[in-house]
Amino acid sequence: MIEELASKVRQAARITVMTGAGVSAASGVPTFRGAGGLWRNYSPEQLATPEAFARDPRLVWEWYNWRREVIAKCEPNAAHRVLAAWSRRYPGFTLITQNVDGLHEHAGTDRVLRFHGSIWEVLCWERCSSSPPRWIDRTVPFPVIPPSCPHCGGLIRPGVVWFGEMIDPEVLERSAEATKCDLFLMAGTSAVVYPAAGLFQSARVHGAFTVEINPDETPASGAADLSIRAGAEIVLPEVDARLSSKAP
Ligand code: OAD
Repeated sequence: MIEELASKVRQAARITVMTGAGVSAASGVPTFRGAGGLWRNYSPEQLATPEAFARDPRLVWEWYNWRREVIAKCEPNAAHRVLAAWSRRYPGFTLITQNVDGLHEHAGTDRVLRFHGSIWEVLCWERCSSSPPRWIDRTVPFPVIPPSCPHCGGLIRPGVVWFGEMIDPEVLERSAEATKCDLFLMAGTSAVVYPAAGLFQSARVHGAFTVEINPDETPASGAADLSIRAGAEIVLPEVDARLSSKAP
């Protein structure tokens, strides 16, 4: 399977990789739905919504503040490093990530399409006229929860996409375009959150060879041309090692 994937990587002119939380698991970032994924018994669907924030901004910010604290101590792992190398080696390579942790960028990946935004960005909840649309704030931890907007004194919110919100139209368009590829590789995602999960189906429709890397089965496993049941931090370096060694 590793050799088959390596051979597809060698042949493909356009390679698109979509990652999810599992790719950062080996770095110590908790996933959302796996074992230990729940935070204080809340599911992401209960916390990551504008309604939850409007109801209880302190609770929602406690969760994000905790995630920011965890992520700030994490380093990219071998999966991030291989994908960063591919982004620089292959001109037709696109990385779409659902992750908001910034570890792909930290590993030096070029042209990351951040499908769900960034946990390191914030914006004014009221969209006050004196604040920019969004800005980077790396304060860890915030001394006061919920943190306030430095421009109007109201609330700020994390710069991530919540359930029920729109994906940035430009990111959505570029991601849809990237599904017109020869190889679509999906790694570390439970493939249940749309529209991200729909990119896999779109790639199939466009005739891409589809691969899944995940230790567990997902709703996409049956449809993938190749399903590799192992951690991305194991599989990707093995594939990369075959690429660097001379073909037999
Ligand atoms: P999930 O937590 O739903 O799924 C993580 C997947 O990673 C699971 O299928 C695991 O089996 C798999 N996994 C665990 N360890 C792995 C490893 N070492 N290598 C490869 N795979 C591994 O995370 P996502 O699918 O990313 O939304 O969740 C999608 C979205 O739901 C997230 O972007 C987030 C969440 O609500 C926002 O933040 C807006």
